[in-house]
Amino acid sequence: MHRGKGMKFVGDSRVPAERKPNIPKDYSEFPGKTEAFWPNFLLKEWMVGAVFLIGYLCLTIAHPSPLEKMADPTDTAYIPLPDWYFLFLYQLLKYSYASGPYNAIGAFIIPGLAFGGLLLAPFIDRGPERRPSKRPLATGFMLLALAAITFLTWESVATHDWEAAKAQGQIVAEVEFDQESDGYKLLDQNGCLACHGGDLQGGGPNPALVGNELTADDVKDIAKNGRGSMPAGMFKGTDEELEVLAEFVSSLKSE
Ligand code: HEC
Repeated sequence: MHRGKGMKFVGDSRVPAERKPNIPKDYSEFPGKTEAFWPNFLLKEWMVGAVFLIGYLCLTIAHPSPLEKMADPTDTAYIPLPDWYFLFLYQLLKYSYASGPYNAIGAFIIPGLAFGGLLLAPFIDRGPERRPSKRPLATGFMLLALAAITFLTWESVATHDWEAAKAQGQIVAEVEFDQESDGYKLLDQNGCLACHGGDLQGGGPNPALVGNELTADDVKDIAKNGRGSMPAGMFKGTDEELEVLAEFVSSLKSE
């Protein structure tokens, strides 16, 4: 007897010692377990597809898209927010070492290193080990990345001003008004349009003046004394002018 005869040498448990030729199974071994593709199988597929399609249709009807007002490219005060899966990148750009003069670090270098590393991982880490505990570097970087993404996403949700975001996107009523009227000219002269917009639609944290719910007295009070984040003493004209301005603004109701 020769040495090693009848013995099988198996190096890797995932590689079978004897390769079987690629011959498809003979399904006549499974009587009753096969079915015709057309129409039996396809009909089942379509039925499952229809359930999902109708499910999604019901969902879109029950939860309509949260639309905001029409996008205004001149509104520089608008603070956009990316979808949730980009929030961590968005949050990264808020840190002083990754924004302003260092914008390239936050926008390209840090994400580039992270995603580049992920892309190159199969070429860098070529060890045969599969268990996470035996691959400390790969596991470590992965946990670090997960922790960073979770933390940054959490921070961006926690620090976002959701109240202001809701106000800035609000759909405001279209109200016709005359830009030649004395009331409008007074708004212009007193610098109100800088915040409330030439179309009086507001923008950013500043509310629209059209479609308001105010009386003329409310407007007089706000124009003189301010309110919330609107500074006091904006109006610098005479009492008669204030009256005209207040009547004008309070007339800008949506019907
Ligand atoms: C510096 C920006 C700024 C300027 C300039 C400004 N406002 Fe405002 N205005 C605001 C902000 C912000 C608010 C929201 C205040 C709050 O927090 O309630 C506001 C609110 C108002 C409101 C209440 C709107 C509502 O529907 O509740 C009126 C009316 C108003 N402003 C009139 C004026 C008039 C009149 C002038 C000019 C004399 C003027 N504003 C100038 C920022 C400004």
